[in-house]
Amino acid sequence: MLSSQLSRRLGWKLVRPEIRRFPDGEIYLRITSPLKGEEVVVVESLSPPQNDHLAELLLLLDLCRDLGAKKLTAVIPYLAYARQDKRFKEGEALSIKTVARLLEVVDKVLVVEAHSKEALSYFRRIEEVKCFSLLGNHLATLGLRNPLFLSPDEGSIERVKEAAEAAGAEFDYLQKERLTGTRVKVERKKIDAKGRDVVILDDIISTGGTVVEACKSLKGARKVLACCVHGLFVRDAVTRMRKAGISRILSTDTVESRHSQITVAPAIAEHL
Ligand code: R5P
Repeated sequence: MLSSQLSRRLGWKLVRPEIRRFPDGEIYLRITSPLKGEEVVVVESLSPPQNDHLAELLLLLDLCRDLGAKKLTAVIPYLAYARQDKRFKEGEALSIKTVARLLEVVDKVLVVEAHSKEALSYFRRIEEVKCFSLLGNHLATLGLRNPLFLSPDEGSIERVKEAAEAAGAEFDYLQKERLTGTRVKVERKKIDAKGRDVVILDDIISTGGTVVEACKSLKGARKVLACCVHGLFVRDAVTRMRKAGISRILSTDTVESRHSQITVAPAIAEHL
């Protein structure tokens, strides 16, 4: 777990709150360790079920304040709602702004690779932990043949470039248009993939739709891997990607799953 890794690295005490559910679904929280005058760091990822995790985080932060925490930091490895950073259609909720307001109770928020600069702009005190070079370092150990790192949309070019530089690999990008929550259209572009090991890199893999579409541009690749920071893998995302020919799926531990092979603990620890 990220919280235990962080406490080990930094030599800080690890406190595990008691978290249960009341029969009607409400959250029960209790912290028995004394927090008065302490500097407290609460680590909670807003992965699915994100609404439950958000409620838990808000209750936990307020409890820490009530118990006398002097300085309060929220480490949110995966920040949910960051993709709702604009009013794409009139009348839509700017949900990340609401989340930012709710988090104003803390002295500092730390997030790992937030989806966009716009999402960050709604927070008063926030730091973003960058980690695409960690992804690149890990990918460099996999013995990939003539690797090509591919960004499935323009929004991730800078990040993919960072990973490619760390791994000494080439990179390219596609352009993507989102049609619905589960369907995307990726431009048909000829990518020089013949005989190469291609890694599709993204900040988030949710339904896997983006990776599947990007995969269609990679004719003749020797292997295609998918690598992301936040592996949400909702519904049949993993099966979809496997069927599309993805031979390996890797993610970090901002959202823990069997694909979490890269830890972001060292990058977070540098900000604490
Ligand atoms: C969106 O712009 C993100 O960077 C990801 O590309 C997106 O969230 C991936 O979602 P999915 O796996 O559902 O296509």
